[in-house]
Amino acid sequence: MMLPQICTMFMFATTFLVIAQVFLAVNALSEADKIVSLPGQPQINFQHYAGYITVDEHQQRALFYYFAQTEVDPASKPLVLWLNGGPGCSSLGAGAFCEHGPFKPSKNSLVKNDYSWNKEANMLYLESPAGVGFSYSANRSFYVFVDDQMTARDNLVFLQRWFTKFPEYQNNDFFITGESYGGHYVPQLAQLIVQTKAKFNLKGIAIGNPLLEFNTDFNSRAEFYWSHGLISDSTYEAFTKVCNFSQIRRQYQNGGLTPICAQVNKLVSGEVSKFVDTYDVTLDVCLASVDQQAGVLNQLQEIDVCVEDETFEYLNKKEVQEALHAKLVGITRWTVCSDVLRYNMQNLETPTVPVLGALVKSGIRVLVYSGDQDSVIPLTGTRTLVNGLAKELDLSTTVPYRAWFEGRQVAGWTQVYGDILSFATIRGAAHEAPFTQPERSLLLFKAFLDGKPLPEASSST
Ligand SMILES: *[C@@H]1O[C@H](CO)[C@@H](O)[C@H](O)[C@H]1NC(C)=O
Ligand SMILES: *[C@@H]1O[C@H](CO)[C@@H](O)[C@H](O)[C@H]1NC(C)=O
Repeated sequence: MMLPQICTMFMFATTFLVIAQVFLAVNALSEADKIVSLPGQPQINFQHYAGYITVDEHQQRALFYYFAQTEVDPASKPLVLWLNGGPGCSSLGAGAFCEHGPFKPSKNSLVKNDYSWNKEANMLYLESPAGVGFSYSANRSFYVFVDDQMTARDNLVFLQRWFTKFPEYQNNDFFITGESYGGHYVPQLAQLIVQTKAKFNLKGIAIGNPLLEFNTDFNSRAEFYWSHGLISDSTYEAFTKVCNFSQIRRQYQNGGLTPICAQVNKLVSGEVSKFVDTYDVTLDVCLASVDQQAGVLNQLQEIDVCVEDETFEYLNKKEVQEALHAKLVGITRWTVCSDVLRYNMQNLETPTVPVLGALVKSGIRVLVYSGDQDSVIPLTGTRTLVNGLAKELDLSTTVPYRAWFEGRQVAGWTQVYGDILSFATIRGAAHEAPFTQPERSLLLFKAFLDGKPLPEASSST
């Protein structure tokens, strides 16, 4: 009579022991990636981690991540993945260190960012695809041709294995966010998650100044330049009727401009001048980097190198790389945008608006926002695309176009469709919105996570 009971107890004890061991082992996995302290780092009240997740053992391809836990109560807060664009630029250098990470590099040390997004969420910054930042492929043939599909696939494998390392986040609400070429990376990864039925608890995506549709996005530049006084009436006419920017962009990608387009391009660049930051037309330029950019059909990579100088210095310190558990594999230095990667530039022409539509249909919340001083991917094209998508999906307006507020000031404008698809501008913000409007950006981020409309004018005066 006693035997079964003892047996059961024994089994229970064994099971318990096994579970405990697995738990400890798993914990130990992430423990190895825990950052003790970053050089020059101020005192903090959260844990942060950095390291590699192998996405292909045979080719030794591994992606580098930086993970900052929420400052308060990480277990109950959402998990948010952030992806910068390029294609080929670093989410660590741009997103974490220049936009909304916990610190900003300043004169060899780090200063606390008061509007860090890890006040609201557990922030996971991923350098993707391999070849970007500290992420690598030991087999360098990988770099010769990378496209959107390969990127999304590797990102999915990354997430699956990251959750194995950090199983405690598997049930948290999960969001994917990003900007610029992230207009491809973010929805494409989300779609793959939906298609493969990965159990990630994906609730929504948010994309800032995203590339969604080649012609609409690039051709909205002409009017933006013109309306902001960067080009003359006659140049505007040439830039719309003689040769438009999507033609210029496409020709450049395919080997060279026709004489007529070269002429229009020269006219436009001459009037805009190279002393304007096209990522925020009201911002003064970082003069040191003007020369680096000259000659290139401005901004082939959709990221502002100006904000990166201190980050470049910082992330190239040996002691910083050690503290981050990062290594340089096949490269001699960390760069904000990849020097080794050959991305399939034809993918720029793949529209991702239909992907947003599919996500909305499967119940995933979509926020598209625009820093309104960006001329690289201006708000006007983006707004048209979102509005068009809402019509196509037959979503009615649930929040009519209106100003939203931070304190008593207008922080931008917003419209919501069917309580699931939202558009918002951030007033006075650059292509990298949190870089120039950190406080407004954090407020937008919080409202998005909470699934709440953006604040209206407060009635109390
Ligand atoms: C490296 O990658 C290429 C292309 O992905 C592949 O054809 C080749 O076999 C790989 N080389 C090795 C040594 O695995
Ligand atoms: C840009 O130019 C192409 C070729 O002439 C044309 O098909 C397209 O409609 C133009 N786009 C805009 C927005 O004017």
